[in-house]
Amino acid sequence: MGLAIISPGKNMDAWISNFQSLDPSIPIQVYPDIQDPLSVEAALLWNHPPGILLEFPNLKLICSMGAGVDHILKDPQLPEHTPITRIVDEKLTWSMTNYVVMGVLNHHRQLVRYQQQQREKRWDMSSPEIEVSIGVLGVGALGNDIVDKLSYMGFKVSGFGKSPKIMSYPYYFGSQLDDFLQQINVLVCMLPLTAETEGYLNLELFKKCNPGTYLINVARGKHLNEQELLVALERGYISGALLDVFHVEPLPSNHPFWEEERIMMTPHIASVTNPNAAAPQILENFRRMKMSQPLINQINRIKGY
Ligand code: GLV
Repeated sequence: MGLAIISPGKNMDAWISNFQSLDPSIPIQVYPDIQDPLSVEAALLWNHPPGILLEFPNLKLICSMGAGVDHILKDPQLPEHTPITRIVDEKLTWSMTNYVVMGVLNHHRQLVRYQQQQREKRWDMSSPEIEVSIGVLGVGALGNDIVDKLSYMGFKVSGFGKSPKIMSYPYYFGSQLDDFLQQINVLVCMLPLTAETEGYLNLELFKKCNPGTYLINVARGKHLNEQELLVALERGYISGALLDVFHVEPLPSNHPFWEEERIMMTPHIASVTNPNAAAPQILENFRRMKMSQPLINQINRIKGY
């Protein structure tokens, strides 16, 4: 009884060699070459074809290959009671935090402006720093680390979440969104994608931001109303954005974001799961599933994260 890896179009060699060196006794099958569906007890998924899990009647564990599980939960034919886990690992957190710190520093120290000045051979020492106060929307494992590291660097940082929590930094929740937005001028989206958070970054929210707020979205493309971001840029609610995620990935070549100078983009690379770092926790959950023990990093299906 073994593990199926289902991640169409991606090279899985690194995952396979990690699993094999950690525990060669676990049989691994890689989609689309699944010869023995009855033997599949655990499935490791990234953008699996909806409905495919119904082919595995002995499935007892579903693992996301990344931090997010929205790609799994959107399957309308997801087996109802099979537990789902996600990746929480130091390397993933470290890369995500580094990316956001890079985005904040680029904005704060105006790297784009100085690159432009260099191209123009222009020496302009005026206003060398943009004063920033950062707000992180969504303070789970990843968001919290971003708040901690930026705070450690001396930045003013606040967090926003769904429910009340005692935090070591200014934390807002629920109906306090407007107060939160008033404190900040850099907004970092770290929310999980759920029915509630889809389209959260929209014109109505941008209007409530301090004029010229800078946006960083490293969560999911669907958090952002892309058309309304363009309007918010035109109206000056938002001054610029660093985006790593998009509604459609790869971003279509006719998408208006390609031509928008105020938007800086990367191709969903802010933090990519490292199989060396993540394989041990998948196998640990495989072992726990076999022994009927509590899983690590199991998500709550009702909450959606
Ligand atoms: C990446 O987007 C992830 O969910 O890990």
